[in-house]
Amino acid sequence: MKTRVAVLLSGRGSNLEALIEAGQDAYEIVLVASNVEDAPGLAIAHAAGIATFAHAHQGLKRAEFDALIDAQLRAQDVEAVALAGYMRILSEGFVEGWAGRMLNIHPSLLPLYKGLDTHARAIEAGDHFAGCSVHIVTTGLDDGPVIAQARVPIMPWDTPDTLAARVLIEEHRLYPRALAEYVRML
Ligand code: GRF
Repeated sequence: MKTRVAVLLSGRGSNLEALIEAGQDAYEIVLVASNVEDAPGLAIAHAAGIATFAHAHQGLKRAEFDALIDAQLRAQDVEAVALAGYMRILSEGFVEGWAGRMLNIHPSLLPLYKGLDTHARAIEAGDHFAGCSVHIVTTGLDDGPVIAQARVPIMPWDTPDTLAARVLIEEHRLYPRALAEYVRML
């Protein structure tokens, strides 16, 4: 049986696309939900015939908004959640409700560079390597146990954008594999 997965996103959706295209036999993406009503990632879901839910978070308390998302996940019998560029801090209640069943991909070699502007910070620090991490979501920002990582070299001529592009290629390889391996253990 494939694990029923929901993807939460706020933007472009290239990781969603990778998760769909990898065509893993371990999971099935049954819902894509977003806090941004015109997130380009929603169009990727539509094109793949995946159900979507989009609702702006503005005007709602964090816990109220998360309860809306949670109701959608429960209605679709979702068993695991994959955050893929979901630019919203989750309420404690939501995180606890999905404890051990929610993953995130973060564009750094965690525990380095939690939060934003990871590539600029890695370049600024003079690091020789950057990368991406898949981790279990806990209440601390980008803080849960890391289950998979990939690294790339930082070239002397890199800008945050060129480095981001190199890391993104690895994200697209890493996330489907890590998600598939993880849901097999649930
Ligand atoms: C990725 O770099 C991911 O690591 C980070 O947000 C970005 C989302 O990109 N959490 P996309 O929407 O999947 O293209």
